[in-house]
Amino acid sequence: MKKTNPDLSVRIGLLRLQNPVLTASGTFGYGQEYAGLVDLNRLGGIIVKGLSLNPRPGNMPPRTVETPCGLLNAIGLQNVGVENFIADKLPFLRKLSVPVIVNILGQDIKEYRKLAERLSNVEGIAALEVNISCPNVKKGGVVFGTDYKAAARVTRAVRAAVRLPIIIKLSPNVTDIVSIARAVEEAGADAVSLINTLTGMAIDVEARRPKLHNVTGGLSGPAIKPVALRMVWQVAGAVNIPVIGCGGIMTAADALEFLLAGASAVQVGTANFVNPRATMEIISGIEEYLARHDLKDIKSLVGSLIL
Ligand SMILES: Cc1cc2nc3c(=O)[nH]c(=O)nc-3n(C[C@H](O)[C@H](O)[C@H](O)COP(=O)(O)O)c2cc1C
Repeated sequence: MKKTNPDLSVRIGLLRLQNPVLTASGTFGYGQEYAGLVDLNRLGGIIVKGLSLNPRPGNMPPRTVETPCGLLNAIGLQNVGVENFIADKLPFLRKLSVPVIVNILGQDIKEYRKLAERLSNVEGIAALEVNISCPNVKKGGVVFGTDYKAAARVTRAVRAAVRLPIIIKLSPNVTDIVSIARAVEEAGADAVSLINTLTGMAIDVEARRPKLHNVTGGLSGPAIKPVALRMVWQVAGAVNIPVIGCGGIMTAADALEFLLAGASAVQVGTANFVNPRATMEIISGIEEYLARHDLKDIKSLVGSLIL
């Protein structure tokens, strides 16, 4: 008897993905940049570069530094702004058959709310991912993602503004990620994604200067995978909403670790810079693993870690 292919589809609240592999925000542009390299319609979904209300030029270069096992970046949330995104980037994305998730960032709650309202009835957007890891300039450097009350306030403001599913993207630069995850669940998040980058720095010893113009930056890539995995495992055990894992996923085996730890889906970030076809290889690898273990669908794998 011919075996049927394993079912890779997953549900993130109301959002249905044909497979659990998403592109991490900021590492896949607005999708079109990868069109010649990747079959975009084979992805689980595309999460686009973070959008603010107005375009942002980002930080001065150098903005990226390669470190052993990881990448440090201080792009400074450069982006085209919400109106240019809707006019210039979305028409291409809309033609694809995969869900498009828009990552948003604000300097204050009002900006998050305005962005959510603006995007709420725009055709071709499947969900919002809310990046709460950016500094709240007005409030003197508080980061929403590191204070559970502020994280809940942002979530409530976005929740009130849209019917779209909302995914709150958590920062790992905290002592207790579980309390933040619980706070945003309580405030109406449909899912959480984690992790964003870990704050780090690198120094040029000859010049005695920081390698990044911004001095510090966000560390991503294989170096952060064990931290991300631990946080995903902790959060998945503490909330009832789906968890999307992210951080150093380069191969199918990495993605499978996150699924076993309790993630319902994964995001691939820095790997796209090293191997633009990483997402395709990860999807095939997960499929092959399920077939090899005689598993009919991915749901039987999620959170099935044996302790
Ligand atoms: C160059 C670069 C730009 C990024 N821009 C964003 C962004 O705009 N919004 C966001 O939420 N995360 C952003 N991230 C974080 C990634 O989406 C991801 O959370 C992080 O890189 C960890 O995953 P990875 O190790 O697979 O790269 C960025 C990461 C990199 C490397």
